[in-house]
Amino acid sequence: MMSEKPELPEIGEKETGLAQAAPLLIGWFKKNARPLPWRMDRDPYRILVSETMLQQTRIETVLPYFERFLSDYPDPAHLAAAPEDEVLKHWEGLGYYSRARHLREAARQCVEKYGGKLPGSYAGLRALPGLGEYTAGAVASLAYGEPVSAVDGNVLRVLSRFWNDERDISRSAVKKEARSRIEAVLRTLDEPGVFNEALMELGEVRCLPNGRPQCLRCPLNGLCLARQAGTEADLPNRGEIKPRRKEAKTVLLLFCGEKVALEKRPDRGLLAGLYGFPMLDGALSLFDAAEWVRSFGVRVLSAEPAGEAVHVFTHVEWAMRGCRFRTDRPLPGLIYAEADELATKYALPSAFRLYRAQAKDSGKDKQNGKMGSDQ
Ligand code: ADE
Repeated sequence: MMSEKPELPEIGEKETGLAQAAPLLIGWFKKNARPLPWRMDRDPYRILVSETMLQQTRIETVLPYFERFLSDYPDPAHLAAAPEDEVLKHWEGLGYYSRARHLREAARQCVEKYGGKLPGSYAGLRALPGLGEYTAGAVASLAYGEPVSAVDGNVLRVLSRFWNDERDISRSAVKKEARSRIEAVLRTLDEPGVFNEALMELGEVRCLPNGRPQCLRCPLNGLCLARQAGTEADLPNRGEIKPRRKEAKTVLLLFCGEKVALEKRPDRGLLAGLYGFPMLDGALSLFDAAEWVRSFGVRVLSAEPAGEAVHVFTHVEWAMRGCRFRTDRPLPGLIYAEADELATKYALPSAFRLYRAQAKDSGKDKQNGKMGSDQ
């Protein structure tokens, strides 16, 4: 039997709703926009750096990184000329390090092909490494006023509520439809970039996730279909979320003299190409880990547990157990770093935070072979 009312608004209705929302949203944003450092001008490079950092990362976390990055790499030429390890060190703690590599590679292409500037259109931006639809759309619309959308998870959440759309926002068809509806509206606006940025802002300060929308203070509350239906706290539908794979790891803090051992991680996989403490698969006992260390023909002068930590990645979770050893000689094939080089030279991801804090004291007690006790 046909239901009397369509489950979702018809296409025209959705676009009409968004077109009606545009002046309210833009007016609200112009009054209430947070004074973020990349909003001071419309420089495409600054916008690119901010948008790259903001993917998967909260604004408060990004702010100090952004300032430091821009002060050391004020334009694509500076970034392109910097060694990759140095750029990764600037990214240390932000996570998703391939973003930093791609950004540097994009800067190199800007120098090679565009005289050190970013390409001046969505199509040119989209062809750079690491710039997907979202980032290219954000830069092209915010910096150049091109009527292209910039749809991320925040924007999809806002729209799923605005349209009371119960479909799974992780489906590419749903995102594609949102993009084309937004672009239909953007083409009618004088300031398409402001509309895009206002949608992002609304998702971050009003239309909050996890059932916490601040509807009373939302400029679109009179038009929002989820609010009318009372479903705002139940949306968006994010589909089936797969449980993370759990992996047990043994992290080795290997001290020798004043130095601690690091390894450069493989070029592929988690934390690719970054530095970390050597790790073994599985949760080894202190005894078994010491046996592994001895198998390189070195003497173990002391052995202590170094605490447990969990690090959550997007699809994997590491349950880490630390083992701290002092050996009479370095193990082959590892990099032995001074404590201050951990701060200045090697990009060590935050997964190793607990162990890094202990490694800072690597030189202590070197005379008598005992460890510090900073667990
Ligand atoms: N999230 C990502 N980009 C943003 C921007 N330009 N303004 C506000 N929030 C954002």
